[in-house]
Amino acid sequence: MNEIKNLINITDLSVQEIDHLVEIADDIMARPEAYQDTCSHKKLATLFFEPSTRTRLSFTAAMMELGGNVLGFSDASSSSSTKGESVADTVIMAGCYADIIAMRHPKEGAPVVAAGKTIVPIINAGDGGHFHPTQTLTDLLTIHRKKGSFTNFTIGLCGDLMFGRTVHSLIEALMRYENVRFILISPRELKLPEYMKEKMNAAGAVWVEYEKLEDAIPELDILYMTRVQKERFFNEEDYVRLRDSYILDLEKLEAAKDDMIIMHPLPRVNEIAVEVDNDPRACYFYQALCGKYIRMALILYLLGLK
Ligand code: NCD
Repeated sequence: MNEIKNLINITDLSVQEIDHLVEIADDIMARPEAYQDTCSHKKLATLFFEPSTRTRLSFTAAMMELGGNVLGFSDASSSSSTKGESVADTVIMAGCYADIIAMRHPKEGAPVVAAGKTIVPIINAGDGGHFHPTQTLTDLLTIHRKKGSFTNFTIGLCGDLMFGRTVHSLIEALMRYENVRFILISPRELKLPEYMKEKMNAAGAVWVEYEKLEDAIPELDILYMTRVQKERFFNEEDYVRLRDSYILDLEKLEAAKDDMIIMHPLPRVNEIAVEVDNDPRACYFYQALCGKYIRMALILYLLGLK
C-alpha cells in the first residue's frame, strides 16, 4: 500500500513538490475543462471547528470543479464535538465516508493528532495560531504568477506576526529559496514568535524587524498585510489598542515601487483601505482566486491522481 501523504505543515512538501503543484494549478487555470471529471466519485470532507469563509469555500469549489463531492460541517457547534466527541473520533468517522479530509481547528497540533488516526489524507486548513499550509500554497501560486519566481525579492510581512498563522507558514516556505529577504513589520506586542526566528536563523534567512510600515515600504517587492487576530487575544482591551496599528492607504503607497504587489490572506478588517482595491498593485482578491486552483492541484496530488 502507498504511504498516505498528509499536508500538516508546508515543509511536508519539498520545493520540487511545490513546483509541481504550481505547474498543475497553472495548467488547470489554462485548461479547466480537462480537469472537470478528474475527481468524479471522490469525496472531500471539510471539518471546520473554527470559522472560515475563503478556505472552506475554496476547498468546496475546488472539489466541485474537479467533479467530486463535498460533505462536512462549517461550525463545531453543529458537530458532535458539542456532545464531547474527541477530534480523533470525528476524524476516524469522517475517514469512513470521505477520500480526503480538510480540517481547521483552534488548537495547535490538532491536525497532527488527526493524521495518525485515519487512512485518508489529512489537510491542515489552519490550526490555531500555528500553521496554514494551504494559504501558503495560495500565496506561492500568487507570487509565482505575479513575480515569475520564488527568488530574489524583499517581502514585508506586516501586522499580527505573533498569532498570524499564514505568516508563519509563508516564512517557512520562502526561507527555502535563494535571496529572499524578510522585513517583519509589527507592533512590539505582536512580533514574530521566537520559535519562528530560531527556524529562520537556523536556515540562514535574512530578516530585519521594523515597527513602522512607512520605513519599510520603499524597499518592498511584496507587501503581505495581515489582520490582528482578535480571536487569539486574551483581553479585548489589548485587541482594541492594537487592531488599527497599520492601515495601508493610497498616501502610504506613494512611496512604494510601481511593481510591488500587495497581498492579504483575507479577511481584511481595517488594514487596507478600500481605496487601495483599484490600485493595480492590489492582488488580494486575485490571491483568493488562486486559492481555488492550488487546492484543486493539491487534492489531485494527495489523491494520487496527478
Ligand atoms: C486566514 C486564517 O484563517 O488564518 N484566513 C484565511 O484562511 N484566508 C487569515 C485570517 O483569518 O486573518
